[in-house]
Amino acid sequence: MAFDQYHEPPHELSDETRTFVRMMLSLIEEAQAIDWYEQRMSVEKDKQAKAIMKNAQHEEFKHFGMDLEFLLRKKPVWRTVLKAILFQEGDIVKLGEAGEEKAE
Ligand SMILES: [Fe+2]
Repeated sequence: MAFDQYHEPPHELSDETRTFVRMMLSLIEEAQAIDWYEQRMSVEKDKQAKAIMKNAQHEEFKHFGMDLEFLLRKKPVWRTVLKAILFQEGDIVKLGEAGEEKAE
């Protein structure tokens, strides 16, 4: 079992922080799975295989969303920033700057 995901001595981290780290890694892994399915679908010629990959990628969207929601519940300031950016219309950079200001 690998423990190299930590940047600080694991025994010095609280249980809450270690759970946060695990969920951050899960979020990264779900994003990577979404990426890999996207690439596979891009090159796959068999329609049935491609449909299965698309279905699997949709599962990864759900996993990513659940991981993210867990993390946002632990970091209200992160939620504040994302609320200003996500599901909004308009310039994404401006929305990000506005979200950052709301978090300060
Ligand atoms: Fe997944």
